[in-house]
Amino acid sequence: MVEDSDFEPYIVCFACNWCTYTGSDQAGVSRMQRPADVRIIRLMCSGRMEPRYAIEALKNGADGVIIGACHLGDCHYLEGNEKAVRRFSVINSFMEQYGMNPKRFQFWHISASEGAEFTEHIKEYVAELKKIGPNPRKHIAAKEFKKLEEVVI
Ligand code: FES
Repeated sequence: MVEDSDFEPYIVCFACNWCTYTGSDQAGVSRMQRPADVRIIRLMCSGRMEPRYAIEALKNGADGVIIGACHLGDCHYLEGNEKAVRRFSVINSFMEQYGMNPKRFQFWHISASEGAEFTEHIKEYVAELKKIGPNPRKHIAAKEFKKLEEVVI
């Protein structure tokens, strides 16, 4: 893949309110520096994450999508994160088939006290996406993703 030194990945992170979102907030309050490439969308639980949210983000040009969930056993709604893990696996299994590098879709377990870990993961992910390059679907009509939506939704 050709590296473009000006390329700044656009990342969408769907973050559980009780863990990753709070951890991200804690990192910000602690003035930890991280790349400004992440847009965080708060969900009350990763179990609320619908596959189409990730697909829409990728279809509309996001270079990376992250689901941030509580650690297994810590979900405030008991099994929400376990359901999210299963959905993640289904989406991920179709990524290559639809011409998308599976690394563009991440599932992380980050607790509210792991702001530093979140910051480090983001730095590593941005570096990884810079190597992979921009989302090839950025400027392509979403026909094939429509098929993926029909499969997973
Ligand atoms: Fe955080 Fe369910 S409450 S993943």
